[in-house]
Amino acid sequence: MSNSLPWDRTHSCGELTAKDENRSVGLVGWVHNWRDHGGVVFIDIRDREGITQLLFNPAINKKLARKASRLRHEFVVAIKGTVRKRPTNMANTAMKTGEIEVIAAALEVLNESKTPPLHVFDYQIEESEELRLKYRYLDLRRPALKKNIVFRHQVVMELRKFMYEQGFLEIETPMLMKSTPEGARDFLVPSRLNKGRFYALPQSPQTYKQILMVSGFEKYFQLARCFRDEDLRADRQPEFTQVDAEMSFVAEEDIYSLFEDLIKTVFEKCLGRQIQTHFKRMSFTEAFAAYGTDKPDLRFGLPIKEISELFKKSPFKVFDSVLAKGGTIGAICGTGCGDFSRKKIDELTSCVLKYGAAGLIWLRVNEEGLQGPVAKFLSLQQSEALIDQTGACRGDMIFIVAAPQTVCFASLGQLRLELGRVKELIQKEEFSLLWVYEFPLFQFSGELGRYISVHHPFTAPLEQDIALLGSSDFYKARSRAYDLVLNGTEIGGGSIRIHNQQLQRDIFNILQISPQEAQEKFGFLLHALSFGAPPHGGIALGLDRLIMLMLGLDSIRDVIPFPKTSAGISLMDNAPDNVTQSQLAELGIKLAGGG
Ligand code: AMO
Repeated sequence: MSNSLPWDRTHSCGELTAKDENRSVGLVGWVHNWRDHGGVVFIDIRDREGITQLLFNPAINKKLARKASRLRHEFVVAIKGTVRKRPTNMANTAMKTGEIEVIAAALEVLNESKTPPLHVFDYQIEESEELRLKYRYLDLRRPALKKNIVFRHQVVMELRKFMYEQGFLEIETPMLMKSTPEGARDFLVPSRLNKGRFYALPQSPQTYKQILMVSGFEKYFQLARCFRDEDLRADRQPEFTQVDAEMSFVAEEDIYSLFEDLIKTVFEKCLGRQIQTHFKRMSFTEAFAAYGTDKPDLRFGLPIKEISELFKKSPFKVFDSVLAKGGTIGAICGTGCGDFSRKKIDELTSCVLKYGAAGLIWLRVNEEGLQGPVAKFLSLQQSEALIDQTGACRGDMIFIVAAPQTVCFASLGQLRLELGRVKELIQKEEFSLLWVYEFPLFQFSGELGRYISVHHPFTAPLEQDIALLGSSDFYKARSRAYDLVLNGTEIGGGSIRIHNQQLQRDIFNILQISPQEAQEKFGFLLHALSFGAPPHGGIALGLDRLIMLMLGLDSIRDVIPFPKTSAGISLMDNAPDNVTQSQLAELGIKLAGGG
């Protein structure tokens, strides 16, 4: 290091221990905290690696101690000094450097700082998220958040290493691409050189990775930035990262086993946690019938039981009319919920109402049998069968929803999650991984008045369901798509793709995409696929969600250095922002309302 520099850094602030006693050291960093005990000044100095306590003693150097007394939070300093073991009663065993302090002999102020608007030194203090995002550079100095970003780096390193070792090539694909329909809304980018025309930012590299298979790369992967203009939630950002992969000459099992090994490796290397491979598997139909969702949280039980059969020809009008319309009756046994108050039941009722149910029926299980407003409509035989089928015991409460099938399962699925939370049934330390497969190929869009793809139009149908495509039961066809679910959150999704052109045409036909329209929208991909496309398939993991869950956090904003608010705004730099008239003119754009 050049001697002309005002610092001589010999160690980081996170590494000195009692073994370094009497060593002369040079440290640099930020003033994390300061205390002035009648002229004896203690400074905690912080860098990326940790915090070290400095002592400025006026009995040793009065001028230096006075200089140190003027230091404030977040000043940038360089010091020289000697390591000393702290008296035993002053040691802080919670910190690696807690056994020592550095007796300062020289101090250089490299930069001052205004008083920070948030507490960098006390990260236990919950600052408002607005303040944290506005001053993200200070928030990122707080060790708790910095730890997440460093962890993210470690995960990225491990998964890259894993993919390279498995023979994958990391290939970048364009950020400026053609807008393709189906899926979320695109972010559009106007082209100055081609006025009136727009690029789209990729929602995912889906089309490119399939084309890379046509080009013969066989094993592609990329840490891909993706952009989707959709409503935001705790696990959704407009801009996020996928671990995106595609392979030729593979089937589902190859992808399952590769990604199970990837997850196992990353959890082991980065968290020291052993993950059992051969993750659980469940078809979409099974998952929906038992948990009311395609991403069940299997860290606790309380499955839904369909009890429609039990109530055929019931004197209870609600059951009777729902079944007459082809609906479903489902139940959950709320273990230990027998003492729930009226108020609690009302809260649970509003939870199922939100998902379209007309009401929530509840039955307490006590010595006399079932008790509740509907109990009188049940025969003794029905009561006994209900207790038997739900596995209920004394002290439990049975919850019932009668509604069209989707509403019945979905609302009970939400009720299940709520019961899991209220009764604290979720094993927070557990990592529960699950493949959900055999999704429906199509779903009806009321808005568009036609069927759309559940995944995307290039998703292959199950071999045994191809025959359905030509029939009026085409909508029952299932796909070769799969999702990976971790603790009730979808962390990945993919499929085996269609490589047969006739099959692709049949699918477009069902989606009511005419040959001309298909040509216009995805002509380039169809064209590429017509030149000897190999059988291929792939998957993309949501990196932000994976890291959030590995760290036990509730929001992906805490694992993204510069996230946006739920309104899609970056509070730090105020993006999106206005642009000048001349910028717009250059792009040939005029804002509606003359703005
Ligand atoms: P899919 O749309 O399922 O598949 O996305 C894959 C994974 O990306 C994550 N994800 C998100 N994470 C944060 N914010 C968002 N807005 C967001 N949207 C999605 C999820 C999801 O499981 N091209 C296909 C993959 C394929 O078929 O190979 C795709 O993008 O964890």
